Amino acid sequence: MITRRSLLQIAAGSAAFTGLGLVPAYADLPKLKKKDSYKVGFAQTESNNPWRLAQTASMKDEAQKRGWQLVYTDAAGSAAKQVADVRSMIAQKVDVILLSPREEKPLVPAVMEAKKAGIPLFLIDRGVDVNLAKGGTDYVAFIGSDFVKEGEMAGEFLAKSVNGKAKIIELQGTVGSSPANDRKAGFEKAIKAYPDMKIIASQSGDFARDKGRQVFETLYQAHPDATALYSHNDEMTMGAIAAMEAAGKAPGKDLILASIDGTRDAAQAVSDGKILVLIECNPKFGPAAFDAIVKYAAGETVAPRLVNTDRLFNKDNIAAYMPESY
Ligand code: AHR
Repeated sequence: MITRRSLLQIAAGSAAFTGLGLVPAYADLPKLKKKDSYKVGFAQTESNNPWRLAQTASMKDEAQKRGWQLVYTDAAGSAAKQVADVRSMIAQKVDVILLSPREEKPLVPAVMEAKKAGIPLFLIDRGVDVNLAKGGTDYVAFIGSDFVKEGEMAGEFLAKSVNGKAKIIELQGTVGSSPANDRKAGFEKAIKAYPDMKIIASQSGDFARDKGRQVFETLYQAHPDATALYSHNDEMTMGAIAAMEAAGKAPGKDLILASIDGTRDAAQAVSDGKILVLIECNPKFGPAAFDAIVKYAAGETVAPRLVNTDRLFNKDNIAAYMPESY
């Protein structure tokens, strides 16, 4: 039966067409009972950087504020462990699962198993392969940033600042993760319009400071003519800054830097003139994620994709952002 609610969901873009006609995609999803408090599972990817710590703190704070139980797991950088973590949440019969999937493909089975077990699941911050699992059909919704847009914003600002000419080293995030795939695609799209903006070397630093430092060191030794760095997150950027300084180079002068996140160290580096442009990726998902659970339980429309608005920081506006950094 197509109800008023399901029509609203169709309007939100979550409908599916079947041989029987138009059927609301939401009809497939597990329901969530309206209750005063929930047992929520939060499956974190890793805890090796300030962004992840801020995300976890936001979830824990929100659960505590509402008096809900939080079952927290940390996959310690392993997609296989994260799948096992979700399975353990299913076995513990949590009411709902919030999953930040480390990589796009390996976490799809976990999404499908939660659905089969009748537990609604929300993807938080990162996505899974859109060809294998869909918001509004296999999981309730994705809540996070538009990573393609983040890459575009970084590429556009960098290109304009260097008059369309740079030899760029790119530090990519975790291989197979949605932010690494999308930030790369967005940046490449933006610089396509500038024939003299060239990526001369590109490699993964796994979103980690030490790895970022090591990888940058190697790439810069091989390409001493590089004039810019595009890094998919602040931790790798801070590692690269350490490597540049150890090599006697001045970040912000010898190389122009574009980064993504908004950590305190990176905001300070913008203020110090070492990073030219910093694109925000907000990790504080607690309020939005828990509000979405309440809405879903109340039978209200939850769009299959809820996207954060990310800001651009440079030396002109970084001081005002500083108190929010983490
Ligand atoms: O998925 C978001 C990315 O993951 C953040 O940019 C990064 O710092 C984190 O580990």
